[in-house]
Amino acid sequence: MADRRPLLIKGGTVVNSDCKVKADVYCEDGIIKQVGLDLKDIPADAKVVDATGKLVMPGGIDTHTHMQLPFMGTVAIDDFYTGTRAALAGGTTMIMDFVLGPKNESLLQMYDRWRGWADAKVCCDYSLHVGVTWWSPQVREEMGTLVREKGVNSFKMFLAYKDVFMLRDDELLQSFERCKEIGAIAQVHAENGDIIHTQSKKMIEMGITGPEGHEMCRPEIVEGEATFRAITLASQVNCPIYIVHVMSKSAAQAVMRGKEMGCVVFGEPIAASLGTDGTNYWNKCWRHGAGHVMGPPLRPDPTTPSYLMNLLAKGDLDLTGTDNCTFNANQKALGKDDFRSIPNGVNGVEDRMCVIWEKGVSTGKMDPCRFVEVTSTMAARVFNIYPQKGVIRVGSDADIVVWDPEAVKTISAKTHYQAVDFNIFEGMKCRGVPVVVISQGRVCVENGKVEVVKGCGRFIPRQPYADVVYSRIHQRDKTCQPQKVEREPYTGPVIQIPSQ
Ligand code: URP
Ligand code: ZN
Ligand code: ZN
Repeated sequence: MADRRPLLIKGGTVVNSDCKVKADVYCEDGIIKQVGLDLKDIPADAKVVDATGKLVMPGGIDTHTHMQLPFMGTVAIDDFYTGTRAALAGGTTMIMDFVLGPKNESLLQMYDRWRGWADAKVCCDYSLHVGVTWWSPQVREEMGTLVREKGVNSFKMFLAYKDVFMLRDDELLQSFERCKEIGAIAQVHAENGDIIHTQSKKMIEMGITGPEGHEMCRPEIVEGEATFRAITLASQVNCPIYIVHVMSKSAAQAVMRGKEMGCVVFGEPIAASLGTDGTNYWNKCWRHGAGHVMGPPLRPDPTTPSYLMNLLAKGDLDLTGTDNCTFNANQKALGKDDFRSIPNGVNGVEDRMCVIWEKGVSTGKMDPCRFVEVTSTMAARVFNIYPQKGVIRVGSDADIVVWDPEAVKTISAKTHYQAVDFNIFEGMKCRGVPVVVISQGRVCVENGKVEVVKGCGRFIPRQPYADVVYSRIHQRDKTCQPQKVEREPYTGPVIQIPSQ
């Protein structure tokens, strides 16, 4: 049964994105009520968590998950229960999932379906992005309703998955214009779907049917081209753009180039692209290769993860998700004879925090404050739920992780909480472990045990016009309008074009 007592976290160092300070934290009714030393009027029955020698940080926010997603003929095996339980086990206290339906389906109906699935099962707070997989006046209208009435402020558009989710450039442009009109952020899956469609057929014709074909038919230039095209299109309608799952140096460089040109663009690398690489597709074990298949693929250049981590550390990339979308061996086996039928997706929701700490903080690339920023605070800011989430501050939600930077764990499918039977980080030794995880002021993880309540997570509605996203956009609207040149009319001769 859930322990609803007030909670005192004592003796730790509070880490926010902007500072690190020794302080106790007192929580009541799911809210942080006091932060500091010598706290007043702590009830005698408060539960005490000893955080001596530990870091007390805002719970992680995973910006990108697909729990129980119906996809490529099957359904992702981690559902909103196992997925959010695993999230909590790993120090993530909020997920953002994607409503993603086929063309011609009502966005509002799909949204209701996702709410029905998630509300019944989530163990931590969650929010929803909505996929725009087709374009029509109805879709345009429904996007407005979702923003005004349903707590959605982000829409994902696809430049890949031809005939399934993909939009043409003119449709992308219209969807970006609509996002801008309603104060939403446009998220994009950036890969060139036409190239993938053509080149994947060629791979099969050449007899390359295994997971390596998945990468070779869509090398990183295909991701880089689409990333820059999406940024270009969005910039033409002054729409803020967010590149989901940045998987390659080429895509990251397109994000950087967009930023250098002054575009309002955010880049989201994921645990997978920061923690492992695409050499796995060439593994002799088919299941191993297939276990890493996702879109866009991991890259065979083994220096990619550390390159992306460097950019994340210095602010060229902004925040992190996981694209958690898991399939068991027997589901991946749908593509045993043709990589095009391997359901795309990998794990990450449970391991993201540890992987980023290990590859980012333990290596000295980023400090704990930047860790908090890229795993929690920036997500809260971009998706407009700051300071409710993403910070340890009086009045914020009591979603907290007590982190032991000295503890070590080894990631394995044998011990993880996720339902999936495979882990792309298998064997990774991580220095830095979440030892206590608190959601809505309730301890969910302690002493190596995970205790969650199915359905107790809340849907967190989000308002449009996030400041970090829209303040620059609004200013440009005021000051960067095209100006006409006033000139005398031309009065000279004009040639006649003969009619056909
Ligand atoms: O492989 C992936 N990424 N699966 C989930 C769908 C998506 O594109 O995010
Ligand atoms: Zn995607
Ligand atoms: Zn995804």
